[in-house]
Amino acid sequence: MRYCIIGSGGREHAISWRLLSDGSAEEVYVLPGNGGIADEFRVNLKIDDFEGMAKFCSEKKIDMVVVGPEVPLSAGITDYLMERGIRTFGPSKRAAMLEGSKLFAKKIMRAYGVPTGDYREFDSRDGLLRHIDSAKVFPMVIKLDGLAAGKGVGIPESREDARAFVDSMVRDGRRVFVEEYLEGEEASVLGICDGDTVLPLVAAQDHKRIFDGDRGPNTGGMGAYAPAPVMTAEVLERVRREVLVPTIEGMKKEGIPFRGILYAGVIVKGDDLRVLEFNARFGDPETQVILPLLENRLGDLFNAAVDGTLAKCTIRFSRKSAITVVMASGGYPGEYEKGKPIKGLEAVPEGALVFHAGTERRDGSCYTAGGRVLNITATGKDLAEARERAYNAVGGISFEGAFFRRDIGHRALK
Ligand code: GLY
Repeated sequence: MRYCIIGSGGREHAISWRLLSDGSAEEVYVLPGNGGIADEFRVNLKIDDFEGMAKFCSEKKIDMVVVGPEVPLSAGITDYLMERGIRTFGPSKRAAMLEGSKLFAKKIMRAYGVPTGDYREFDSRDGLLRHIDSAKVFPMVIKLDGLAAGKGVGIPESREDARAFVDSMVRDGRRVFVEEYLEGEEASVLGICDGDTVLPLVAAQDHKRIFDGDRGPNTGGMGAYAPAPVMTAEVLERVRREVLVPTIEGMKKEGIPFRGILYAGVIVKGDDLRVLEFNARFGDPETQVILPLLENRLGDLFNAAVDGTLAKCTIRFSRKSAITVVMASGGYPGEYEKGKPIKGLEAVPEGALVFHAGTERRDGSCYTAGGRVLNITATGKDLAEARERAYNAVGGISFEGAFFRRDIGHRALK
């Protein structure tokens, strides 16, 4: 089969690697891709150019499109391509509202009994400010509705900070809600869905903060590992039964069947588990550790999800562990420079995988082109072995200003 993957990050490189290496695909194009993708398989189109994509897919006789990021999903890429007869793995525009509108997701969770934090919606900035003035408990979680590239959530520690967040982020008319602050350990549980059936993938944990010890500002993710020990088999089964299944059934009852990846960010504390948020796509960098552990052919799962036959599939994961370490440009997530030559990519130790993210290739050499540059990934019989292999490979790769966390997996290895 011929696939076209939409996106340009480590997640999309990992999906393309997996489809090729497990025999699912003869050819995988990535649109727009990055420096990890051979030039002849990179498609130089913008991810909002739906017309160009449809034309490309028809010309190249693409059998299936797989959509990585949330923005084209929320803009309706799946509907657009499917209406033109191009099989596409990813939720419809309306189903992607589980990620695109946090309030929609809250309403679905409330309606179908999915455990999540209590929340209260405000339809005016003044109402929110009055609530902040009378609040007795901080930190407070303030969430803006709609896609906000990770910047739509404030967790102010005090009344003053809460007012400052509202001043800088909340314009009148913006839909906003205040949510109960949840404490515990977070994990990402992704399920592949065909509208009726949902099959959970191995649980992963990412590391959102820039510095070791989970300090400093949030990033797109500095590393991940799987399986996450906080998701014991028993807790994972609860997430399936209490979160994924009622959400998929609820969406079906609403007339909005969900096909694609439903990603639940779950917080666990003792026996309590609650959903922090849903995403409507593969996680990045979680995908980089989930796919190396998958024992099925990935393409079989994508096809079953699009055909509505996932109930006939059994999903299997190896008993190994996987870890990925993100090498970032110095200064990220703030300002950083691009265009630094990357050395050592030709001598990566056997067993380690390098998924590119912010890179580009010029005249046969690879250069940095983004904040998160590379995802160095390894598997092992346990997490300690996987970690040793991944950091060993990181040690052989360099570029000016390279920065990475040295404690990926620390919660599992403590
Ligand atoms: N790892 C977080 C995300 O993919 O949104």
